[in-house]
Amino acid sequence: PVIYAITPTYSRPVQKAELTRLANTFRQVARLHWILVEDAAVRTELVSRFVARDGLTCTHLHVPTPRRYKRPGLPRATEQRNAGLAWLRQRYQHLLPPQPGVLFFADNDNTYSLELFQEMRTTRKVSVWPVGLVGGRRYERPIVEKGKVVGWYTGWRADRPFAIDMAGFAVSLQVILSNPKAVFKRRGSQPGMQESDFLKQITTVEELEPKANNCTKVLVWHTRTEKVNLANEPKYRLDTVKIEV
Ligand code: UGA
Ligand code: MN
Repeated sequence: PVIYAITPTYSRPVQKAELTRLANTFRQVARLHWILVEDAAVRTELVSRFVARDGLTCTHLHVPTPRRYKRPGLPRATEQRNAGLAWLRQRYQHLLPPQPGVLFFADNDNTYSLELFQEMRTTRKVSVWPVGLVGGRRYERPIVEKGKVVGWYTGWRADRPFAIDMAGFAVSLQVILSNPKAVFKRRGSQPGMQESDFLKQITTVEELEPKANNCTKVLVWHTRTEKVNLANEPKYRLDTVKIEV
């Protein structure tokens, strides 16, 4: 199966660095289709350059987050992930025979081991695994007994139906196509509940397929990029040539 990685991204000083790191990872994964979704009203030049690189199969989408949703404490990237889902559905819903595929939400700032892609490629419906550096702990993970998920090891809101980060699961393309209404919702979605709200539309805890040796190995990290210090940036351009940043 092809792995479809949906990556929301937005303009800021670290964007080129983040996308460089991610492209360097994805370039090494066979049969990976990168769906880059810009949080922007238009496709930017910077992101377009990445899409055109050799060694990457990439689809470049864009949709701006409405201003009213750009607020601390509100979920991010709802519209962008939905645009990726809509693109996949539109492209594959009527294709016969059904195309084998696996979907994964790959935020632009996380760290992904290559082994993770081997693990997720065997997803039949929905697979799960641990995520490092999240939930106020070194890792969060699904608790597995006799090959089934029976609970969650987490330091944060253990009452979540699926106490898992966006980076902790993959879904088969067929599940996405056979649940055409499953999307990320703005209304009623509390912070941190996006994953649960989405997963409960398409699966149950009993059905989850544990990966990474029964969820005992951390293969992805919820790393976050420090806010850059631009205190010494001049107000007016002082540099003499145009720099591609
Ligand atoms: C956590 C989760 O890991 C995310 O999956 C979840 O979307 C997010 O919380 C949330 O609060 O909604 P965190 O590291 O706090 O992640 O969030 P970011 O990495 O800053 O944003 C998640 C994704 O949305 C990134 O790929 C980022 O590029 C994108 N994003 C963020 C936008 O497209 N637009 C924005 O204005 C902000
Ligand atoms: Mn992040």
